[in-house]
Amino acid sequence: MQTLQKSLVSAVLCAMVWHASAAAQTAADKASTYEPTVGQSGKDVVWVPTPQALVDRMLEMAELTPNDRLVDLGSGDGRTVITAAKRGATARGIEFNPDMVALAQRAAKAEGVADKATFEQADIFKSDFSDATVVTLFLLPSLNERLRPIILEMKPGTRVVSNSFTMGDWQPDESAQVSENCTAYCNAHKWIVPAKVAGTWALGDKELVLEQRYQMLSGSLREGNNVTPITDARLEGEVIQFTVGDQRYTGRVSGKSMSGNTQNNAPWQASLSAS
Ligand SMILES: C[S@@+](CC[C@H](N)C(=O)[O-])C[C@H]1O[C@@H](n2cnc3c(N)ncnc32)[C@H](O)[C@@H]1O
Repeated sequence: MQTLQKSLVSAVLCAMVWHASAAAQTAADKASTYEPTVGQSGKDVVWVPTPQALVDRMLEMAELTPNDRLVDLGSGDGRTVITAAKRGATARGIEFNPDMVALAQRAAKAEGVADKATFEQADIFKSDFSDATVVTLFLLPSLNERLRPIILEMKPGTRVVSNSFTMGDWQPDESAQVSENCTAYCNAHKWIVPAKVAGTWALGDKELVLEQRYQMLSGSLREGNNVTPITDARLEGEVIQFTVGDQRYTGRVSGKSMSGNTQNNAPWQASLSAS
């Protein structure tokens, strides 16, 4: 009687184990054959992949090097992250759709870059990507504008490249179009996070007043009673350039000080006195 009971229990257990492993196998099969559909809904924007020709162009615009840490916000099938990793960078994708995350992880493995190309399931608006040196996006103008204040707090010099969509009134530093092997969504825009320089600076015995709108600068240089407006003034990350009269100043900003040379090779140095 006891033997019969034991046999029945082990038969039931075997059936349960078989059922569980069959179910797990079905889920794994389903996951490994998951095929996304262009235009499928996403949390804040649908999935449309960036054409590979534009991915390549975007990474060239970013001047991506193996020293960079790239983040693709809404990474879809992972193509930008994987391409960046193949170019030697450390690359991270943040994607809300878990099936897309798994798809991208499988693609990174298949391409042999799973160590450099990583993906996580998360909401880009709840993620910290402040350590990235390159940010890529293919979202929507409204989402780019929501991200803009976060991006502007990133380290000066961080490059941001967006497929197609702009950043409101923050004008791009560069725009490009790809015509070969690209039929839709073939434009990209690049911004370089500018250093923050608005304020009054003591430049030798002169007073430099800078007003800042993103990378664009205006202001004046006061020397005694003489006030001369600055012209052609802008930032490229930490690099500042402006003209006063016939003097072109070029320098580098480092927190509350900046220094450089004029076009005549005369060194100059300034420190922030009021912001
Ligand atoms: C237009 S696709 C771009 C995909 C990829 N970056 C590329 O260029 O090929 C946008 C992606 O963002 C994802 N997405 C939408 N809202 C998101 C959010 N709040 N957080 C993370 N991912 C999101 C979508 O699932 C979709 O895969």
